[in-house]
Amino acid sequence: MKKRVIGILLIVSFCAAFRKNEEKITYLKDIKTICDQNCSYCHGENKYIYAKWGGDLNNWDSLKIRIENGKFRDHVIVKKDMPPIQWNRGIGLPENEIKLIDSWLNAGAEY
Ligand code: HEC
Repeated sequence: MKKRVIGILLIVSFCAAFRKNEEKITYLKDIKTICDQNCSYCHGENKYIYAKWGGDLNNWDSLKIRIENGKFRDHVIVKKDMPPIQWNRGIGLPENEIKLIDSWLNAGAEY
């Protein structure tokens, strides 16, 4: 009886662990907060860079254009010049957030 309970617990915890791995990175769940905290200050609506960016970073459509034309990846993952380090207390995005964004882009940048 005890063995059976342990067996069931093991299966349940395996499933839970598996589901966690399967969980997709999405814009709304994982990426938006990073953008809100690190990008919207300059790229948000009515901010000075708004026109150059071509839209609000909180606006998915204008962000999507930058994902599709590669500029988002180019600045955030390749050159790592966004956010500009002189702005962000002398540090850019932390490595784990860059990795998260990279995985998200590689998986198709789901909304
Ligand atoms: C301190 C203000 C500031 C912050 C914060 C900032 N940016 Fe920028 N960003 C700029 C400026 C200024 C430019 C224009 C640079 C240029 O043209 O050389 C720019 C340009 C860009 C471009 C190129 C746009 C295009 O279409 O050519 C991308 C992509 C970008 N930023 C993404 C981001 C992301 C993502 C973040 C947050 C992780 C961010 N930026 C945070 C000021 C900022």
